[in-house]
Amino acid sequence: MRIITTINEMQTFSKKTLRSGKTIGFVPTMGYLHEGHMSLVEEALKQNDCVIMSIFVNPLQFGPNEDFDRYPRDLKRDEELAKQAGVDILFYPNVKEMYPKERTTRLTVQERVDTLCGESRPGHFDGVATVVMKLLQIVLPDRAYFGMKDAQQVAVIKGLVEDFNVPVEIVPCPIIREEDGLAKSSRNVYLTPTEREEAIQLSRSLDAAANAIERGETNPVRIKELIISYLNQTSGVIDYVEVLSYPALEAIDVMKENIIVAVAVQFTAARLIDNKVTTRSEIAIGV
Ligand code: PAJ
Repeated sequence: MRIITTINEMQTFSKKTLRSGKTIGFVPTMGYLHEGHMSLVEEALKQNDCVIMSIFVNPLQFGPNEDFDRYPRDLKRDEELAKQAGVDILFYPNVKEMYPKERTTRLTVQERVDTLCGESRPGHFDGVATVVMKLLQIVLPDRAYFGMKDAQQVAVIKGLVEDFNVPVEIVPCPIIREEDGLAKSSRNVYLTPTEREEAIQLSRSLDAAANAIERGETNPVRIKELIISYLNQTSGVIDYVEVLSYPALEAIDVMKENIIVAVAVQFTAARLIDNKVTTRSEIAIGV
């Protein structure tokens, strides 16, 4: 595995790879790798000749009171994991390389951001869209892999590449979980042992919601109440509980389309998110 730290070298490598007729699969990350990230690599390896992973903790997507400085970082460990998994190139630029000067143009996400994490983290998705746009221009992938753990991010990025006709296929990948159901996350290390136990209520609440929907529950308000009854068993503070259409992320009166059930809970030092996207056919079973 080769590590590349400059944009120039990365673009040169990618252009050469593409010219030789090989396909490139891209897995953008902020590092502190876990099985969730590695599942994206596995998928990318299946579908492409060359797999490029980026590790860049993007300051633009963190709010002023968020955890940019103490976001977990461990390059040596990440390097080893990426190498073992079969990543060909690790793109690891520093902040100065990615943002050398005041920008002359700004990306602002207009739709799909007035709810969920977009609502509780103002400007977050502008930062995500900016860095992903830059990374796609630098890495020039045929396909880019994103986890449904961040379902709103997938919806926003799909909109971005459609709006700007970026010639890349966005491949959404399923959420990877711990044995007890907790979605894997770099931030799980910041849970206290008690909070770690309580955190299983997030996935439990979503399972209960999915079961209720399958059994025929069509009222989003009752589904939210059910979820809240689970989350109230934790010491965390509920940030949001939403039942929305997916990927448009609009409010719905009754369950009749593809929907996302999504939650965010703030624990002492970690804010956890989780979601479940239910398709129309799954809902139809219970109706
Ligand atoms: P990061 O949080 O490091 O996540 C990188 C990718 O891994 C994202 O696509 C995310 O959805 C996916 N991922 C994280 N946990 C997962 C899990 N448990 N199961 C499946 N996939 C999982 O998301 C970002 O970084 C950044 O916003 C980024 C896209 C890199 C832009 O800065």
